[in-house]
Amino acid sequence: MDFEIDGARLLSELETLATFSDSAAPAITRIVYSETDRKARAWLKDLCSQSGLAVREDAIGNLFARWHGTDPDAAAVGTGSHIDAIPNAGKYDGTVGVLGALAAIRALRAAQFTPRKSIELLVFISEEPTRFGIGCLGSRLLSGALSGAAAKRLTDRAGKPLEDFGDPENLALPTNYYASFIELHIEQGPILEKTGAALGIVTGIAAPAALRVLIDGEGGHAGAVLMPDRRDALLGAAEIALAVEAAARATGAIDTVATTGVCEVSPGAVNSIPSHVKLEIDIRDTDLARRDAVVKAVIQACETTAAQRKLQVKTEILNADAPAACDPQLIEVLTEACRAERKGFQRMVSRAYHDSLFMSRIAPTAMLFTPCRGGVSHRPDEYASAEDIVTGARTLARALAKLAA
Ligand code: GLV
Ligand code: MN
Ligand code: MN
Repeated sequence: MDFEIDGARLLSELETLATFSDSAAPAITRIVYSETDRKARAWLKDLCSQSGLAVREDAIGNLFARWHGTDPDAAAVGTGSHIDAIPNAGKYDGTVGVLGALAAIRALRAAQFTPRKSIELLVFISEEPTRFGIGCLGSRLLSGALSGAAAKRLTDRAGKPLEDFGDPENLALPTNYYASFIELHIEQGPILEKTGAALGIVTGIAAPAALRVLIDGEGGHAGAVLMPDRRDALLGAAEIALAVEAAARATGAIDTVATTGVCEVSPGAVNSIPSHVKLEIDIRDTDLARRDAVVKAVIQACETTAAQRKLQVKTEILNADAPAACDPQLIEVLTEACRAERKGFQRMVSRAYHDSLFMSRIAPTAMLFTPCRGGVSHRPDEYASAEDIVTGARTLARALAKLAA
């Protein structure tokens, strides 16, 4: 069966979704539960209903849009991604997997395809860690990787509990809910562009860990306190950030990456010695043991800095997830779908994390990547071509048809 993606409509929907943003174009900022995010999700819900899907939302905002199959009791074929965006992001991260999936479903309908298994678009809430400090919140709860009780302890930067936005208890899906799950996503790296392949079939997803480090020193007057008497929290933080880089490089593996992406300094005045710093550190690898060794080395470096600089340093592991392997049978289905496209494709690992990392715990899961210019992502100049997006959506449609037949 051949499927025709309405590329003009898909591109126009991506543009419309990009208008829901709290930063000036082309930068996209859509933080979960902000007014802008709520409006975007309301728009998306309408769009799913208009496309003939039965829409439901769970208590924290995961959105399920279902095309009922002729065997409604059979486990469904799931697909989807997220629409929240980090500050000053681009317009394709997550959104291609949501609106591309919707376009794929519309293409199946237009081709008079009749699914036996239901096909369900799942739009995850809060894939990005911006607000609650932990990524993949929706899929963690759906997969049971995060308990409702633990989620209730999460607060945003302003101290507002997650619970204020919805009840995270009892959201886990039964393990037979999805027969399979496929996420379409831009690669967010340069490999496909370099090799000239139009499609990437993900075989595994690298494992992220996140640390929060709270450093307390002693504040004081920037002129009056002499250098030997200082306990400057920011200098400790600087040492720790350098230790993070050193620990990642020391593994010698190209797959180890570590980033100190948050550094909040108090009181934050030019003539005041920093008394308190909050760091957030992201450490990833395709190899769990190697990743954990870096986490350990960073914690050790925090202790050394604390002792040498007479600071109080508290470390907290926010998450330390295991890598995921994609399902071999789904990889085969995607391979067949890619072959039918008659375009170059290749197998690869995902170095970014995705909700599929957690979906793989409750369903056979795989991911399909499409190229993005220069491998750029999490930046306003993130770009994916219309042709590549349409190819991705059509390949997804082929795979969904195969899985739902
Ligand atoms: C997802 O956004 C990631 O940080 O990999
Ligand atoms: Mn992202
Ligand atoms: Mn994403």
